Amino acid sequence: MNVLLLGSGGREHALAWKIKQSKKLNNLFIAPGNAGTTQVGQNVSLDILNFDAVKDFVLKNEIDMVVVGSEQPLVEGIHDYFLQTAELKNIPVIGPDKKGALLEGSKDFSKQFMQKYDIPTAKYRSFEANTLEAGYAFLETLKPPFVLKADGLAAGKGVEIIDDLNEAKAALKEMLLNQKFGAASAKVVIEEFLSGIEVSVFVLTDGKSYKILPEAKDYKRVGEGDTGPNTGGMGSVSPVPFADAAFMQKVEERIIKPTLSGLQKENIDYRGFIFIGLMNVDGNPYVIEYNVRMGDPETESVMPRIQSDLLDLFDGVAKQTLDQKELNVDNRTAFCVMLTAKGYPDKYEKGKEMNISAHQALLFHAGTVLQNEKMLTNGGRVLAVTAYGNNLSEAMQNAYADVENIQFEGKSYRRDIGQDLLKFNA
Ligand code: AMP
Ligand code: GLY
Repeated sequence: MNVLLLGSGGREHALAWKIKQSKKLNNLFIAPGNAGTTQVGQNVSLDILNFDAVKDFVLKNEIDMVVVGSEQPLVEGIHDYFLQTAELKNIPVIGPDKKGALLEGSKDFSKQFMQKYDIPTAKYRSFEANTLEAGYAFLETLKPPFVLKADGLAAGKGVEIIDDLNEAKAALKEMLLNQKFGAASAKVVIEEFLSGIEVSVFVLTDGKSYKILPEAKDYKRVGEGDTGPNTGGMGSVSPVPFADAAFMQKVEERIIKPTLSGLQKENIDYRGFIFIGLMNVDGNPYVIEYNVRMGDPETESVMPRIQSDLLDLFDGVAKQTLDQKELNVDNRTAFCVMLTAKGYPDKYEKGKEMNISAHQALLFHAGTVLQNEKMLTNGGRVLAVTAYGNNLSEAMQNAYADVENIQFEGKSYRRDIGQDLLKFNA
């Protein structure tokens, strides 16, 4: 098969690395890719939101499958575009259509969906500019901290958690009246605060059956001890020790099954990944959010644990034969620490030369570029270092040992990824 993968981050490098191992693969193209993806496929300079350009490339290069890494093309309807274009309609797209992508593209839609299908989630209400006063009144009924979410896509920045009532009111006004997140905050979801520990669960579905992929824990704050601003993610660990069989059973019964049957009842033919961000509240799972793609940096610890042929699984998604495929998972722990540029997640440096010496860990590039045969930093998150271990502490040691073998000016990273999980297993 000839495969086109859309995206350019660490997630896409990890997906490309895994696809590259497939017996079914002929040529792998990554658009636009990064310096890392050139090791496993061919980068293509394409604007992935220009669907006509994607079409031309797909037809010229006899692409048999398109795998969408990031949410934006899905929310903008790339799957629908393929289905509606005669020459493309038989070329499978891994990722949902526009309606399915609303699970991530609209917080209001996803909250309504959860409420309709009895999927455990925080209590909520949605407000618009003309219901601002009602929003204030709703805030007054809640206990702090207050959780405010811009309805639309806001590059991971649309959620604010605020302790003070007056500040929460001001933030609501800022979002609704002053369009703090542009059109994304024309509507705002206010919800109850859930107290617990988070875990990311991943499901691959063909619309009929599903496979639960290895779960992972992500570390979102920039600073050690979960301090400072949110980032795209500073590291990840899979498996997550507290997500044991009993917990995962609850996730499957209370969340995964009703989600998939809800999608069917809404006539959404969902083919792709569902990423369920969960809070474990005293042993019970609650959905914080859905995403319609894999997580980044979760993919960098999840893909290394999948032993099955990923393209074969995708083929099952495309042909709705996923139930006939087997998912084999490596029992070892995969541990990922993200190396970031100085300044991230605010304004950060770019263009720093990178030196990588001998290493054991897998390196998944996030923000790198090749220029005149030199590898330069090209993003806030630069490179994910993923190592295996027979347990969490061993995987952790292996990953941090190799962090020393990657050098660039301003290199930053969290030294405490996974520390909070050590108490569950050593
Ligand atoms: P989201 O973009 O919806 O994943 O929210 C970003 C982050 O905000 C989540 O990863 C949680 O850490 C936090 N968060 C979101 N909703 C809640 C909630 N209802 N209670 C507690 N924390 C939340
Ligand atoms: N790691 C969180 C995300 O990909 O949204």
